[in-house]
This record gives sequence, structure tokens and C-alpha cells, in this order.
Amino acid sequence: MSAPVDLRSDTVTAPTPAMRAAMAAASVGDDVYGEDPTVNALETRVAGLLGHEAGLFTPTGSMANQLGLRLLVRPGEELLCDVDAHVVRAELGAAGALSGITTRTWPAERGQLDAGTLARIEDMMRPDAGPYLVSTVAVAVENTHNFGGGTVIPLESLGRLRTLADSAGLMLHLDGARLWNAHVASGVALEAYGRCFETVSVCLSKGLGAPVGSVLVASAERIAEARVWRKRLGGGMRQVGVLAAAGLYALDHHLERLAEDHARARRLAGKLAAAAPAVVEAHHVATNIVPLDLRSASVDAPGLATAARERGVLVSVLGARRARLVTHLDIDDAAIDRAVDVLTPLL
Ligand SMILES: Cc1ncc(COP(=O)(O)O)c(C=O)c1O
Repeated sequence: MSAPVDLRSDTVTAPTPAMRAAMAAASVGDDVYGEDPTVNALETRVAGLLGHEAGLFTPTGSMANQLGLRLLVRPGEELLCDVDAHVVRAELGAAGALSGITTRTWPAERGQLDAGTLARIEDMMRPDAGPYLVSTVAVAVENTHNFGGGTVIPLESLGRLRTLADSAGLMLHLDGARLWNAHVASGVALEAYGRCFETVSVCLSKGLGAPVGSVLVASAERIAEARVWRKRLGGGMRQVGVLAAAGLYALDHHLERLAEDHARARRLAGKLAAAAPAVVEAHHVATNIVPLDLRSASVDAPGLATAARERGVLVSVLGARRARLVTHLDIDDAAIDRAVDVLTPLL
């Protein structure tokens, strides 16, 4: 039987033969001593792309996010973010458990940052709240928004958020695990996004197809502090240029091709929406994620996932009646056709 069509996540990709060759050929050194030339090149390159002074290679996006938040928010202070943000929903309470950060969330309608949401965030900001209330010091946003369905936040909205933050004296963190997708879908320069924030995390192991790795960018001073905390958390890695090489290769070869993933996601959404318009809102599919709303369907999310798995298609379950399909490097046109054939009758 042929391999399943794995649409659970863009993290499931295997490194390509050419990426593996680049990894094998990488120059390496001890990165805890700052002596791995490939890691140094990756950190410098990503920082430059995002318009920041310095970068730090981390094993995961979660670590990059949590280091970024820790740089901005001290124990007992408050971070605002949306209720579906990866930093609060999927990092296992790290902000509170490891850094003593208090979070307050706004409702997330598909991860958007529209005028109504911005007004709500402004209302929630409580800088210098005095001795009786928690003081807000930072706001985190996610672009593209994972649980929001791959939504791209427009640069203009981020500019408005920046203005609000500046007038309240707050700092901004971007979870840019899929900022690459936002950049390719919108045509907005990575640097323009990056400059709106004090700290930005980006993942190499999602749409870009590297097996491991993220980069946190910020000022040189902040990254020096993050380097200490990375080591403290056990994230000081040694001859890790073999992994950084995959990231550099991905930036050279897998960035612009994200447009193909987006086109395939649109095609998949369009075909499924034609059969089940209440389940798939094809016009909302902006990048590589197709959310499935199964509230009015005859099948629930676990039921769909089980039935699809039996027929060779893997689907991600996000809730009792929410599921997700994600296109990526290892999904070609034939895989989309197969997924459409399997999923259409189930929906
Ligand atoms: C938006 C977002 N941020 C952060 C992460 C964390 O990445 P990692 O799994 O490498 O910790 C993910 C992972 O899926 C994500 O989707």
C-alpha cells in the first residue's frame, strides 16, 4: 500500500536528499562557545532578513517563543495575547510555569487583528497598574495564525498595534512560526513584519521543511540574555551546524515554493467546499491550512480522522468538531487529488 497522504501538519516533512547533503557537508564547531560557523551564519542571516540585530538558534519554536516572552515580561507581569495563540494554548503553560508570566487573552475570530480586535486589545492594556492590579508589559501576536486557520495578519493592522503599544509603553512579541507563509502570501517584506516587534520567533521546521530548529531575533543585548537562558534551560547545543545547515538550505530553496503549498490548499479547500460548503470556507484559506468546521456535519472530528486514516489520509483533530488539513513540501498534486477523493464522501 502506498504511504498515507499526511495532512496533519507541515511539521511532518522529511528532509530532502539535497537538504541532507547540505547537512552532511556543514562546517561545525562548538556552538556553546559561539564557534559553529554554520549556526552563526544562520543566526546572522535570519536576523538580517527580519531587520533585527541578532539571532539565536533554538531547538524548537516553543523555546524561541518562551525565550522571547521572558525577555519582555518579568515574573508577575502580564502578557496579552489571543485565546488561540500557540504561546498560551500549546506550549504547556510554559509562560507561567517557567517564567511566572501572567496572561490575559482576547477572543480570536480566525486569529484576525481587525479594528474591533484592536479596540478590545487597547481596552485590555493596563500599563503601570499600580500595587493592586497586574501591569501589562507586552502583547504577543501570531502570523500566520495556526489555530486561526493560517490567517495572514495585514501589515497595516500590525502597524496599528505598534502605535497602540507605543502609546501605552508596551512591547510586542511575534510568534512567526509561519511568518514565511505570511510573507509569501502577502508579498510583504519579512523585514517590514520584523520591525514591528521587539522579539520575533520563526520556525525552520514547518513549511520550510527543515527537520529541526527555530530562530529568535531581537536586539544584540536581548539575544545575549536569551543565550544565557537557552543554556539554563538545557538548549545549549554543540556541533549543531549540521541542523543549522538544513535551515540555510531551506531559506535558499524552500521559501518561495510555499506559494505552491498555498495554491494546493486553495484547490483542496475549493473541491471540499463544493461538496460540503458548511464545513469548508474556501474563501478564508489564505496560506497552507484548511480548517474544517464539522458542527453541522454528520461526522465529528475523531470520526473523520479515523475513517480517513483507514483510507490512507491523515487529518489533524483540533476539537470535537474541528479538524485541520495542512499542505506542505511532501504533498503534491496527486496527494491532493487522493485527499479529495477520500474526504469528499466522508464530509
Ligand atoms: C504558531 C506556532 N508557534 C510555535 C510553534 C512551536 O513549534 P515547536 O513545535 O517547534 O515547539 C508551533 C508548532 O506547531 C506553531 O504552530
